[in-house]
Amino acid sequence: MLVVGSANADLVVPVDRRPAGGETVLGGDTVLSPGGKGANTAVAAGRLGADVALLGAVGDDPYGRLLRESLAGAGVGTQHLRTVDRPTGIAYITLTPDGENSILVSPGANSAVQPADLTDDALDGVRVLVTSLEVPLSTVERAVLRAREKGVPALLNLSPAAELSADMLAAVDVLLVNEHEAGYLLGASDADPRELLGLGPRSAVVTRGAAGAVVVEADKSTTVESPRVEAVDTTGAGDAFAGALAASLADGAGLVEAAERAVRVAAVSVTRHGAQPSYPTAGELE
Ligand code: RIB
Ligand code: NA
Repeated sequence: MLVVGSANADLVVPVDRRPAGGETVLGGDTVLSPGGKGANTAVAAGRLGADVALLGAVGDDPYGRLLRESLAGAGVGTQHLRTVDRPTGIAYITLTPDGENSILVSPGANSAVQPADLTDDALDGVRVLVTSLEVPLSTVERAVLRAREKGVPALLNLSPAAELSADMLAAVDVLLVNEHEAGYLLGASDADPRELLGLGPRSAVVTRGAAGAVVVEADKSTTVESPRVEAVDTTGAGDAFAGALAASLADGAGLVEAAERAVRVAAVSVTRHGAQPSYPTAGELE
């Protein structure tokens, strides 16, 4: 599979509460770990044994090297990962005791991921394309439309939420959203997930945190339960879900079966700190 997306260094500060505008709050020690929605997705899939590469960009700096190490450690191909003349993306993350995060991203090198990076051969032999929205929208659009032309199923993780063209939504095979993003797309937080198919994608998966996920296909919708776990850090749980989902689809699984595995992978990820460092191997999942 090919992931087109971001790579960030995550700077995580534990806080009791977040500062308001003009206010200063003291937090705990900063923890640095590899993140970014694209790299997270690729690492999650790689840990599970998938054949996966990341198309993206990092800077020529220690954070870029940290990301390359993490990707290599998970067996993720970096032949499409450019080193550019911009600082590696950084995510400034505050983490509260309930495991909830809020994230401010400085995209840096991720802004340099351009449509032209989707070279003619980038999708050759690829069984699933996965993309998310921390790289320029024009690049994501090119990737999804190219995948459609080549008959490669495209999974779009609508994170962070953004407005998409009808053409692009119609070229998506699996639209992956959390409840908040689903509400954004449908214009109402309590809308029926089945309405997502009216926007164009062939299927949709709505993740619901501890409540698991809903899989919406043309002829049915299926609820997938999540195992109960003690969450310490939910950062990157959605990306773990995306990577695991795509890895199973690339392996030939159906969407419901793939979502059942993905909820388990995401559940393990929230019991450990950080994004990439928290993702399980196939062996750990059993
Ligand atoms: O989805 C989680 C990710 O969002 C973090 O790893 C952070 O880098 C931000 O991109
Ligand atoms: Na985690």
